[in-house]
Amino acid sequence: MNKDRKLIIAGNWKMNKTVAEALDLVHGLKRELASVKEVDVVVCPPFTALSEVSRAILDSNIRLGAQNMSEHSGGAYTGEIAAVMLKEFSVRYVVLGHSERRQYQKESNALIAAKAAAALTAALKPIICIGETLQEREAGATEKVLEGQLRGSLASLNKDQMEEAILAYEPVWAIGTGKNATADQAQAAHAFIRRTLAGMFDEPTARRARIQYGGSVKPANARELMRQPDVDGALVGGASLELRSFSDIVKNSI
Ligand code: PGA
Repeated sequence: MNKDRKLIIAGNWKMNKTVAEALDLVHGLKRELASVKEVDVVVCPPFTALSEVSRAILDSNIRLGAQNMSEHSGGAYTGEIAAVMLKEFSVRYVVLGHSERRQYQKESNALIAAKAAAALTAALKPIICIGETLQEREAGATEKVLEGQLRGSLASLNKDQMEEAILAYEPVWAIGTGKNATADQAQAAHAFIRRTLAGMFDEPTARRARIQYGGSVKPANARELMRQPDVDGALVGGASLELRSFSDIVKNSI
């Protein structure tokens, strides 16, 4: 591979997996991916499984991510989880602003920017999600939407912090629908994102930025998507819930 940016393949398990099911899956992944060094593999279980999964992957090359966190460092925020609590389980990554949270929890770009700042302060790598809806794409508004999300969700980040952050381009119409963006569509969006980052930060920062693709990534389309020059990894939902498909996605991406 001639990309200097190492691929990150992350599994977003969403609201799935009891502790027993989560352990079953990571034990299998440890076996299957023991020799994989070329990509960073991250699993993002629900909060309730972080402790056990963290212990289970200690002696492996699999890393741990969370699916969300609070923008606050602690206090009277019932039901919320602070960065410092994630750190207790050696969590290194945190997904922020997933389209499901933007839609169901009404998360705004400003909130996501505050969460990203809190994550970076705690030395967690935020995986910040952006992406247009089908309606927006059909209206020809994809770039405008992506630029607005980038400027809003990254508003709190300086250049050094951007080096630690990861972006995930997840077209909403491709999430959980089985209908992935084509390699050309993904590459065009990623190239646009990188150009926008160059304007917001600078060329070298944009060149080094990691931009994952998410939305119906499967073993059959991973190779083609990951081969695109501006695609630096994947955020996998449904297909990360099952040992065979997630490990095949990782292997096919190398
Ligand atoms: P999907 O989900 O792979 O099931 O489409 C991707 C995501 O929501 O991160």
